[in-house]
Amino acid sequence: MTTSVVIAVDGPVAAGKGTLARRLAEHFGYAYLDTGALYRAVGAKVLRQGGDPADPAVAAKAAESLDESDRAAPELRSEAVGLAASKVAAIPQVRAALLDFQRRFASHPPAGRAGAVLDGRDIGTVVCPDAPVKLFVIARDEVRAERRYRELMDKGEAVTFERVLADLRKRDEQDSARAAAPLKPAADAHLLDTSDLAIEAAVAAALEAVAAALKR
Ligand code: DC
Repeated sequence: MTTSVVIAVDGPVAAGKGTLARRLAEHFGYAYLDTGALYRAVGAKVLRQGGDPADPAVAAKAAESLDESDRAAPELRSEAVGLAASKVAAIPQVRAALLDFQRRFASHPPAGRAGAVLDGRDIGTVVCPDAPVKLFVIARDEVRAERRYRELMDKGEAVTFERVLADLRKRDEQDSARAAAPLKPAADAHLLDTSDLAIEAAVAAALEAVAAALKR
C-alpha cells in the first residue's frame, strides 16, 4: 500500500511535457522522473556498444544492466539517441525491464516525498493506470519542431528545421504505431494543447487541470 500521489504526464516529442512535469513537481514538492531518459539511456548504451537499437536481444540486455552511469551519459539529449530510444522502446523486454523501477519510483518517491510526477508516453495507460491525475500534453507538429530546433541550436547541434520536423514525425509514428504500450491518451486523461501557450500560461493551465482532477 502506498499513499503517494501520482501525476502522470504523457505526450509526444517536444509538446512541453518535461517542462510542465518539472514545474508541477516543484509546485507540489513531489519527486520528478523523466522516464524518456531511461529509454534514452538504453538507446545510448546500445549505440556506444556499436549495436543495433532495434535488435531485441541486444536492447534487452542493455536495459537489464542499466546503471547510474548510463543514466548520466552526456549524449542522452541528442537527436541520434532520441531515435535510438524510440527503437528500443518498441521492444517489450526493454519495457518490462524498466517497468518496476518506474512503478517503485511512483509508489515510493525518493527522499520521502508525498508524491511523484512521471513524464513519458505510457505513464497514464500502463505504468500508473490508477494515477489520480493524468495529463496528455499536445501541440501542433510545427510548433513542437520549432521548440526542439531552438533547443538543439542552443546546444550547438548542426540541424535544420526540416530535419527536426521529419525526425519528430518519425519518432511520433514509431511511438504511436508500436504494439507495446503505444503513445495514446488514457481514457481519463486531461488533454492540454500548449501550441498557443507561453510557458507560464501552460503551467497555469496544468495546475488548474491537476486541481480539478484531485477534486473528482
Ligand atoms: O520523452 P523522450 O523524447 O525523452 O523519450 C525518448 C523515447 O523513449 C521516445 O521516443 C519514446 C520512448 N519512451 C517510451 O516509449 N515510454 C516512455 N514512458 C517514455 C519514453
